[in-house]
Amino acid sequence: MLKARMAVLVSGGGTNLQALIDAQKADKIRSAVIALVISGTPNAYALVRARENNIPALLISKKDCASQEEFEDKLQAALLENDIDFIVMAGFLSILSGDFVKKWPRRIINIHPSLIPSFCGKNYYGLRVHEAALEKGVKVTGATVHFVNEIPDGGEIILQKAVRVLRGDTPETLQRRVMEQAEWQILPKAAELAAKDIINTGKPR
Ligand code: GRF
Repeated sequence: MLKARMAVLVSGGGTNLQALIDAQKADKIRSAVIALVISGTPNAYALVRARENNIPALLISKKDCASQEEFEDKLQAALLENDIDFIVMAGFLSILSGDFVKKWPRRIINIHPSLIPSFCGKNYYGLRVHEAALEKGVKVTGATVHFVNEIPDGGEIILQKAVRVLRGDTPETLQRRVMEQAEWQILPKAAELAAKDIINTGKPR
């Protein structure tokens, strides 16, 4: 069966990468194969997960590049060399420019740990998202997978899942519950949907 080749961009622990790997192993992702992992940071545990699962992995750090352009040229070269059809951003901390994103229309998806349009956009990443949710006092938060366009967290929504905020939650406990109950569930589903769409609507790039 024809499978879309997926690159997963990471910077941290890689628990979302792990959810994708597990879904692939369980045949819940059938229309795609994880063909490449790119880490933006050298000591990301996500790189260990890639290695343990025999997935080709690369380090492309913005810090090692003289400019955003050089960084994105390196990314683009690695993606093309590996015949990548679509990109999953799973905790990748470097922002991609509009110019880069335009080269991959509806071919980049991102997981964000809130129900967009709440607590999203430029300064909302990591624990900050959950701190803001607790400061506001929302009773429900969650996660969103969306296509990436030029507006931070502004692309078309693919899937969302709600998670309850509990009394006594800290940003850390809330982050963990959002990951377990929402992110790890909807990211593999959205990756499968995106891959299926690529296969059905013509080819892979
Ligand atoms: C997740 O919370 C994700 O929503 C955000 O970055 C975090 C990545 O965690 N974009 P991990 O590296 O997948 O464990």
